[in-house]
Amino acid sequence: MGWQVLLFISVLSFGAVCGQVSYSIPEEMLKGALVGNIAQDLGLGVERLKSGKARIYTGSSEEYIELKRERGVLRIKEKIDRESLCGQTVPCALHFQMILENPMEFYTVTVEITDVNDNPPTFERGEMKYEITESALTGARFALEKAIDDDVGVNGLSSYALKPSDNFALKTIIRGDGTKHVEMVLQKPLDREKHEHISLILTAVDGGEPQLSGTMQILITVIDANDNPPVCSKAEYKVSVTENAPIGTVITTVMATDVDKGNNGKVTYTISKSGAASLFKIGPDSGVLTLYGNVDYEKRRRYELDVQVSDQGGLTDVCKVIVDVTDTNDNPPSINIMSKSNTVSENVKPGTVVTMLNIQDPDANENGKVLCILNENIPFAIESTTNNFFTVVTDSELDRERSSLYNITVTCSDEGVPSLSSSVTLTLQISDVNDNAPVFERSSYEAYIVENNTPGLSVFIVKARDADWNQNARVSYILEDSSVNGLPVSSYVSVSADSGVIHAVRSFDYEQIKDFHFRVKAQDGGSPPLSSNVTVKILIQDQNDNPPQVLYPVQTGGSLVAEMVPRSADVGYLVTKVVAVDVDSGQNAWLSYKLQKATDKALFEVGSQNGEIRTIRQVTDKDAVKQRLSVIVEDNGQPSRSATVVVNVAVADSFPEVLSEFTDFTHDKEYNDNLTFYLVLALAVVSFLFITCVVVIISVKIYRWRKSRVLYHSNLPVIPYYPPRYSDTLGTGTLQHVYNYELCRTTDSRKSDCKFGGAGSQNVLIMDPSATGTMQRIQSEKNILDEPDSPLEVRLL
Ligand SMILES: *[C@@H]1O[C@H](CO)[C@@H](O)[C@H](O)[C@H]1NC(C)=O
Ligand SMILES: *[C@@H]1O[C@H](CO)[C@@H](O)[C@H](O)[C@H]1NC(C)=O
Repeated sequence: MGWQVLLFISVLSFGAVCGQVSYSIPEEMLKGALVGNIAQDLGLGVERLKSGKARIYTGSSEEYIELKRERGVLRIKEKIDRESLCGQTVPCALHFQMILENPMEFYTVTVEITDVNDNPPTFERGEMKYEITESALTGARFALEKAIDDDVGVNGLSSYALKPSDNFALKTIIRGDGTKHVEMVLQKPLDREKHEHISLILTAVDGGEPQLSGTMQILITVIDANDNPPVCSKAEYKVSVTENAPIGTVITTVMATDVDKGNNGKVTYTISKSGAASLFKIGPDSGVLTLYGNVDYEKRRRYELDVQVSDQGGLTDVCKVIVDVTDTNDNPPSINIMSKSNTVSENVKPGTVVTMLNIQDPDANENGKVLCILNENIPFAIESTTNNFFTVVTDSELDRERSSLYNITVTCSDEGVPSLSSSVTLTLQISDVNDNAPVFERSSYEAYIVENNTPGLSVFIVKARDADWNQNARVSYILEDSSVNGLPVSSYVSVSADSGVIHAVRSFDYEQIKDFHFRVKAQDGGSPPLSSNVTVKILIQDQNDNPPQVLYPVQTGGSLVAEMVPRSADVGYLVTKVVAVDVDSGQNAWLSYKLQKATDKALFEVGSQNGEIRTIRQVTDKDAVKQRLSVIVEDNGQPSRSATVVVNVAVADSFPEVLSEFTDFTHDKEYNDNLTFYLVLALAVVSFLFITCVVVIISVKIYRWRKSRVLYHSNLPVIPYYPPRYSDTLGTGTLQHVYNYELCRTTDSRKSDCKFGGAGSQNVLIMDPSATGTMQRIQSEKNILDEPDSPLEVRLL
């Protein structure tokens, strides 16, 4: 259609010079396409063209159009591209001549090439890259590459568009030469943190129909700016750590994030300087909070740390970390003695407070709850009065004598797991009270003292102990008043107050007193004093201090006593019996008899036990009438004592025979003169003594009987002992009847009123050389206790 229009124009321009014709065709017509009917348009016939050998003359330029002479038309010879033929020059036309011969004519032909929108706008590069900092201000401009459209006119570049248009707007600038430049202008600040990379499409469109376009990608990399501070992941970190946790224990990790990139986003952690900063350490890069010192619940229970987080660009935040220290049972209870008695009296009442204690355990809860106990088996208890205050009290009676000192161990433990405990030992002295009387070692004492002691001799010692202490235990011994045989006991013994030694005050005589007893009191020095007493029995022991006393036959100086033995007497005839006593006792009084001398030793023997004198052979006529025997009586003491008695025996059948023989027995005639008087006197005395001695004998017998019972009970060896005069041990004697006594006793033992029995004593011959009568002699037994050494004899005329 376009070329038709151009054809019309070219017809109008026909007719100049030799004639000219113009055509207008669009570019890009196909080869062979008709440009114009030049023959017709010039008014020439085809014949003329043929004859004129019409041809086209283009000079040096390329032939795009050829002439078809046969048909008189111009056709496209080469495809015409307006842009390569003319570029931006407008209008674009081909100028050539058609030359004819016969006649020579030439016609000017102009073919205008019109534009066809066959080129889109194009960008030289497919993409453009920009690096823009996010901190770029709005209004910042960035030049963009322009698009090129080879077409001209409306087919040329018309406009640009930029998509998306969030951040940038497009601005077209028309320069003075009319060229269009395009820029993008920052409308809204960039945020790398939101979009680090932005991709835009710039589209250029032309005005052709149809419209063509070209695009270019714009890649924007947003460069980070430190526009974000670091931010703690939590506003407040609440953590706990146990006290005494080792250094290096990780407590928590503080996390802060910085959305910036690179160094702008690199967070470092520091602990702001505060009191507790030295206890904690934070990894500058990691944010790991560790323990760097010792935390003690008892000193501080909470730490508040400000952890400053900062990026390299200098932006900061502060994270708060609250560290709560939790308790561990690391403190044993501490025991403080508030008040303490060192000594208590043994008579304090149960419940008396001895010590007050204050117990502290700084740990928390169970770890700080304290329980106290005492060691066992002591009479004390521990009581809790109020919180943390304890008292140690006595819980039963004290007795210093049982235990004078107590070690009270107070052990306090808390209820932590494991439990901690501590203990303290209190030493408590128990002071004495005089609550014990002295106690004698034995309930009674018996002491022996040998008679004839020297006065002042220490006899014995009594000892009493007092369980109390010191003055309360200082014992003194006191002899208690009593009487012995009517005399105060102090005249017999004395007691040493300090030592308890008992001294004899006098010399004792067993024959006078055999035993006595008294009481000794032991008294302590307490106030008031306590005392006890004990009975001390003193037994006097016999000494062989008395020789045997011969009671019969009586030894007199003046009279002669002879035993008669008939000549018809048989072997074993009992002549007489030597009777002796010993006032000592026991072995000391155990007598034995021996024949010491005899006129005819072959005729008589003496019973060693009983003192019986018997014949040992038949008496013969040849035996002398007058026989003199000397018998020795010995006791069994150590050393033994003895007495000798002379026994006269008359071997005769009649008194005259005897008298004739015994006249020479007399050896002291002057002495006999007073005999009569003495005999009378003696008779009276003997009477008295006889009665006395009978009484005494009975007393002694009873006493011995009782004593033997005592001995029997005491298991002591008992030596049976029978003085010869009291019984016939052999039981064969014939003299028993001789010792029949009648008893009498007066109130005064020294004066006796004795009767003597008329015992048959025909065998006894008492001869007084100074008289001619025969006397019967009566021997009275001596009073053993009263008159130990005065044998009496009575001679009756
Ligand atoms: C008390 O303790 C002391 C020393 O610690 C010791 O000598 C004494 O024997 C103890 N006494 C008792 C009754 O345990
Ligand atoms: C001696 O002790 C007894 C108790 O053993 C007592 O009954 C008596 O009264 C005491 N005698 C004297 C004189 O103190």
